Amino acid sequence: MASFPTALGLSAEQTEDVVQQAGLAPSLHNSQPWRFRLSQQAIELHSDPQRRLPAADPADRELRLACGAALLNLRLALEHFGVRPVVALLPRLAGPTSLAELRNGGQAKQAPEELALYQAIPKRRSNRRPFLENPVPTAHRHALAAAVRREQSSLRVMTRPELGSLEGLVHRAHRMQMADGRFRDELAKWTGRPKGAAEGVPADAAGPLPEPQDQWVLRDFSGGQARARVPGKDFESDPLLVVVCSNHDSRLDDLHAGQAMQRMLLTATALGLASSLLSAVVEVEATRDELRQLLGGALQPQAVVRIGYGSPAPATPRRDLRELLIDD
Ligand SMILES: Cc1cc2nc3c(=O)[nH]c(=O)nc-3n(C[C@H](O)[C@H](O)[C@H](O)COP(=O)(O)O)c2cc1C
Repeated sequence: MASFPTALGLSAEQTEDVVQQAGLAPSLHNSQPWRFRLSQQAIELHSDPQRRLPAADPADRELRLACGAALLNLRLALEHFGVRPVVALLPRLAGPTSLAELRNGGQAKQAPEELALYQAIPKRRSNRRPFLENPVPTAHRHALAAAVRREQSSLRVMTRPELGSLEGLVHRAHRMQMADGRFRDELAKWTGRPKGAAEGVPADAAGPLPEPQDQWVLRDFSGGQARARVPGKDFESDPLLVVVCSNHDSRLDDLHAGQAMQRMLLTATALGLASSLLSAVVEVEATRDELRQLLGGALQPQAVVRIGYGSPAPATPRRDLRELLIDD
């Protein structure tokens, strides 16, 4: 096979690694809605309109969050290979799918904390299983909030009184989505995939079969194949739930929030913490509005994340790297 194309003065192996790290980002239903155009002048990040999820994500907001996460991975990987990335978000005069352009801004020396995040990229997983009862230490909570702030976004840690209201919203949003045939069809298309599929959520990553009394993890990603709960393995009683928020509600804010979410998820991974996303509440407009009010009205809730100490979770598949390239 021909060697991998090169970009920004990197070798073929380095360019391949950079694209691979980007493609390891999380995405709704593991849709992997990103594409890359490589040249010596720039790496362009594009959305892939074929991979939109119109029932769950009609405005492509979560698509941009996922692409923002891929962008953070790209930045970390470029720094790892000594390239300081200069990033233009939503570059002017570019086509409608163009989300970011990265150029070579000179030599970089990756700081140890950033190296730890780069090394966390392949270890991060969405972990839908019950977490241990051990609380997340305060210093770790501060580190998660700082990670989000670095990417021009803010993190709200849900307080105990707020958790009750959030739980009501999460259940309502889930029921509304499951009552919608278009949503159910889209979910069915992307979940319970057989072994060997390159996209979608495989049954073994789905976690235990959701049960009516579960507080938080409600979406069944197994296509009906999830294993029943091991007796006594219930979800943690005092979960840490955080909300990644933007100050405004624009396409640019979505891209910042995606980078913030990913920096937080990688920080969590590097600290030995597990995480999973609970998106129904921010996908249904009515419950997203209520969550916005619950958070005080000023911040735009982008991603709700459950964080804790978990048992190992399986990796999900990714597409062939060459399929991610725009080849003109
Ligand atoms: C914007 C966004 C929303 C997501 N929402 C959910 C969700 O509601 N429930 C869930 O279990 N996983 C959710 N996920 C996690 C994806 O299913 C997961 O990233 C994908 O299957 C790839 O697996 P990985 O994260 O283990 O690499 C979401 C991911 C993203 C980026």
